Amino acid sequence: MMLQIKALIADGILEGVKSIAPQSEMTAEDVLGLLEYPPDPAMGDIALPCFKLAKTLRRSPVQIASTLAPLVSGEAIERAEAVNGYLNIYLSGAYLAEKVVPEILDKKEAYGAPDLGKGKTVVLDYSSPNVAKPFHIGHLGTTVIGHALKRLHEFAGYKCIGINYLGDWGTQFGKLILAYRLWGSKEQIEAGGIDELVKLYVMINNAISGNEEQGIAPNKEYADQARAEFHKMELGDEENIALWKWFVKISLDEYEKTYKQLDITFDSYLGESFYTDKMPAQVEKLRDMGLLKIDDGASIVDLEEHGMPPCLILKRDGSTLYPTRDIAAAVYRKGEYDFEKCIYVTSNQQILHFQQWFKVVELMGYDWYEGLVHVPYGTVSVNGAKLATRTGNVVLLKDLFAAAIEKVTEIMEEKNPDLKGRSDIAEAVGVGAIVFYYLSNNRIKDINFNMEDALSFDGNTGPYVQYTYARACSILEKAAANGVAPCGEGIKLTDPLEKALCVVLSQYEERVRVAIRDYEPSVITRYILDLATAFNRFYHDCAIFSAEDEAIRATRIALTAATKHVLGSAFGLICLRKTEKI
Ligand code: ARG
Repeated sequence: MMLQIKALIADGILEGVKSIAPQSEMTAEDVLGLLEYPPDPAMGDIALPCFKLAKTLRRSPVQIASTLAPLVSGEAIERAEAVNGYLNIYLSGAYLAEKVVPEILDKKEAYGAPDLGKGKTVVLDYSSPNVAKPFHIGHLGTTVIGHALKRLHEFAGYKCIGINYLGDWGTQFGKLILAYRLWGSKEQIEAGGIDELVKLYVMINNAISGNEEQGIAPNKEYADQARAEFHKMELGDEENIALWKWFVKISLDEYEKTYKQLDITFDSYLGESFYTDKMPAQVEKLRDMGLLKIDDGASIVDLEEHGMPPCLILKRDGSTLYPTRDIAAAVYRKGEYDFEKCIYVTSNQQILHFQQWFKVVELMGYDWYEGLVHVPYGTVSVNGAKLATRTGNVVLLKDLFAAAIEKVTEIMEEKNPDLKGRSDIAEAVGVGAIVFYYLSNNRIKDINFNMEDALSFDGNTGPYVQYTYARACSILEKAAANGVAPCGEGIKLTDPLEKALCVVLSQYEERVRVAIRDYEPSVITRYILDLATAFNRFYHDCAIFSAEDEAIRATRIALTAATKHVLGSAFGLICLRKTEKI
């Protein structure tokens, strides 16, 4: 809704611009880009800082603002004022409410969906842990950003394929097989699951690299044996392949528990191993096109001309590498899904890797290379030694979730001792707190996890917004019990905080579009906070059940229902569970 109103305003302003400067090439799109939402509704609901036009129009901002003010009008506009070089536009609350609220009550959680993706497919490659290595906090970013981007694209009508590109092939399996033969047992692993695998993995790694401080020398023999075990795997050795499959299954079963807590599912788990037989064709093509160069025995694609170090395709011993597999996988996915975009979510340490192989795909003449998108994110650290695990200095995702759930359970026992279904709710709130905290930052920023902050019920947190959702639900429940129905038509606004809430509700689609355009789920997190805050202010000041007349009561219930739908929809976009009760 807000988008239509802004478009209308932009047309009015453009007309004014053209009347002052007929030769100006400014478009409505340009004007839209200049409009702002003032931080305080006293300065209008939408504003145009006119100094941005001063150069084009060769007038002072003050003059421009007063020239434009009369041109901004229409049903949606209450008034437009020129103040100190700003054009402050006040929207009509009645108009907004009449347009927005019935639409939300009608469409419910489908309200605000941008019509962007019809008939188009997006592939998303995310989470993708390396099997047999710990699934640690570094994977939180790829997992939740990736899934949020999937939900956002789905919401906008794209067909989405979520792929968990498991790191299920490589020398780590040689190490693990060796460690298992040396120190492991079937019973132990069946009982301990992935923790046992990680323990073995850590042991063998320590043995291979040695420990200077403790006077343990690196064990070269183990290193050679591990390599040999992996080589046997590559040759299809039955016993090793069986062990490998078993390790993968144990790991996946464990990851599933975490995914389930997050309400995440994947459409495909084709990992690196799947591409073993698909790489030779691409290597051949590279060779035929004359793109491969031999450098110290290895095969590379020289990217100097493009300002990058070479992309490694084959090692000296002929074995393939991470970029080789990514190239083969992209070609396969294009054939399989005919994607418009293929989005890869990884930490920013892999930026160069993606730039390099995207370039190689381009050089290979695949015209769809422009659809390849890398979405990097910053590093995550955690303070609080309590979270460090037996596996050393990495923090496992499941331990982080468990700690959050435990804390939330404690808080809830204190706050609401009679609550039914507490363990489910504690999981929703504990996991939600971590997800929300993480997604509150611009993805590219490094973040330091602080449990206290994440779990607080009164900061800008997951618990706060989930609590707000629960509040809206309980108001609606009470309304139903008392026979107060939300009104569709006949909305009667009597308080500025009601209008302020409508303004935020009307901005949903716009924010969703920005989140998709910038691959930035934090736009939604911030929107949720804006909406929760607007709703809580409204709720604090506007009595619902004791309001003086029926139309006001019905309006306020309608506003509450609208808030619930939009919050619920936005929660869904960032993997935050809806909590009807807390
Ligand atoms: N398994 C890799 C890691 O944990 C991430 C894979 C990302 N996806 C890709 N297509 N390269 O670092």
